[in-house]
Amino acid sequence: VNRLLHLLGAGRAGGALGAALARSGHSIGAVVTRTAASAAAAVARIGAGEPTTDPHRAVGADDLTLVALPEAAVAPTIAALAARRPRLERAVVLHVAGALDAEVLAPLRAAGAAVGTLHPCAAFPDRTRSPALADVTFDLDGDGAAIAAARALVARLGARAIELPPGGKALFHASACLAANALTALLDHATQLAEAAGAAEPAAREALAALARTALDAVAERGAVRALTGPIERGERAVIEAHLAALRRAAPALLEPYCAFARATLATARRRPGRDAAGDAAIAALLGG
Ligand SMILES: NC(=O)c1ccc[n+]([C@@H]2O[C@H](COP(=O)([O-])OP(=O)(O)OC[C@H]3O[C@@H](n4cnc5c(N)ncnc54)[C@H](OP(=O)(O)O)[C@@H]3O)[C@@H](O)[C@H]2O)c1
Repeated sequence: VNRLLHLLGAGRAGGALGAALARSGHSIGAVVTRTAASAAAAVARIGAGEPTTDPHRAVGADDLTLVALPEAAVAPTIAALAARRPRLERAVVLHVAGALDAEVLAPLRAAGAAVGTLHPCAAFPDRTRSPALADVTFDLDGDGAAIAAARALVARLGARAIELPPGGKALFHASACLAANALTALLDHATQLAEAAGAAEPAAREALAALARTALDAVAERGAVRALTGPIERGERAVIEAHLAALRRAAPALLEPYCAFARATLATARRRPGRDAAGDAAIAALLGG
């Protein structure tokens, strides 16, 4: 069923999701932001919807609401909506926040709504681009009717879904932050090391990003434990010693990040069957921690 979809918040994430759903043929209702100007801009980006600054227009019986507010604004906004005691029979309200679970929407259950979450494992860095979401995975939790509605939206986008058990959202979000944010930080440190070695930006960044893409492809295909290559995977202690000596000499500030990431690498290598335990212990001793 093509329920009317309201967007409560239509910034970077809400606007991108609204635009992708509108392109897929979904009917868009209210598009709620804080100012008339930002609401008009969001409607222009989405290509559909009624711009408004009134959050109460974002919910209705039989309707679907996507809450895409900053995380700190979700609970107070939902409390204000619930306080008006709206009639929300058969309504579904989903929020897109990664670290919050469905319970933050619980006040709307008393009005008759089913509540859940629909979090895209994707980064939306600005309000201009509205990428296709076909290869994105959404993690879901919440009431049965909310999960069914979330799955229908995911199917409409040609995307994928992972349903989490109650209480799983924070851990899953931690995993997403490692995969995206820690990877970004890792590449920042790697680029600084390459510059310390004499390679110039952006050549260093391009070289390392291309290398990282091959590693990412291998992880996606084979899993991290089987995808791992390099001196730690091969147990080459002398190579690690040479890295550490070069770091102490030319980039001492990067020694600790190198060792921290290398310890994590060793933990992955150790999950391989048939490791040389004494060799791994010697490498661990070099890396400290
Ligand atoms: N950006 C991402 O990459 C990404 C990815 C996955 C999930 N998310 C989730 O999406 C949600 C929104 O994040 P975002 O990055 O899209 O934020 P954003 O770009 O700042 O957009 C927030 C939207 O909420 C509106 N809003 C209403 N009340 C607000 C208030 N009290 N304070 C601030 N804004 C208010 C804003 O109005 P105006 O338009 O008038 O500013 C704007 O439309 C968060 O829960 C986040 O976890 C974001």
